[in-house]
Amino acid sequence: MAECVPSRATGMEGGIVIKDDWPGYSLELFTYPEHYREDIESVYIPHGVIMDRTERLARHIMDDIGDHDMVVLCVLKGGYKFCSDLVEFIKVQCRNSNKHLETRVEFIRLKSYLNDQSTEDLHIIGSQDLSVLRGKNVLIVEAIVDTGKTMKALLKHVEAFEPKMVKVAGLLVKRVSNVVGSLPDYVGFEIPNRFVVGYALDYNEYFRDLNHICVMSEIGKVKYKI
Ligand code: HPA
Ligand code: MG
Repeated sequence: MAECVPSRATGMEGGIVIKDDWPGYSLELFTYPEHYREDIESVYIPHGVIMDRTERLARHIMDDIGDHDMVVLCVLKGGYKFCSDLVEFIKVQCRNSNKHLETRVEFIRLKSYLNDQSTEDLHIIGSQDLSVLRGKNVLIVEAIVDTGKTMKALLKHVEAFEPKMVKVAGLLVKRVSNVVGSLPDYVGFEIPNRFVVGYALDYNEYFRDLNHICVMSEIGKVKYKI
């Protein structure tokens, strides 16, 4: 499936690198909601692997910033599963090491994709009062980063609230040639530049209820296109 080598991402955690020729696992090897049978082609990253990698990221984050209270800023909607699992692992590790760390979770909702294409614009949806971030250690938790443009705009937005420190955890980083923005400090997986769904990542709001990260079929792309 992958080899673990340093990736293009900066910071402490480059991520597990999934190569361009990785086809994913056959659907027959896993379970998934029956209503998606025709709509997915393969299981790209199984749920269990996502969980194990997230546990390791939680340990890295704790080693780096676990001595201070944290405000976790979950980027919706795609980041909700990763954020929830990451925060749970952080809490377990706090308990196991007898640390009394407060982790407050805040949310911000962004939208920049229609079908499987980026729309160029970053939309912050709803008015977000993030004044709670002032003077705090902030961990932004995002499901997927490609050019880094959205992340750069988000960092600018967050920094206006004058946090003490900002780190970013990204479950997936796509290997793209046109990196123009910011990459996460902690990365789960570096993947080829292809569209994936599941584990809260959507295609026009479908597939968020799929546990594994999967590749869509052409049938699925047509069926759920707007
Ligand atoms: N899947 C779902 N949402 C996304 C993706 C993707 O591959 N890239 C950016 N937003
Ligand atoms: Mg989306």
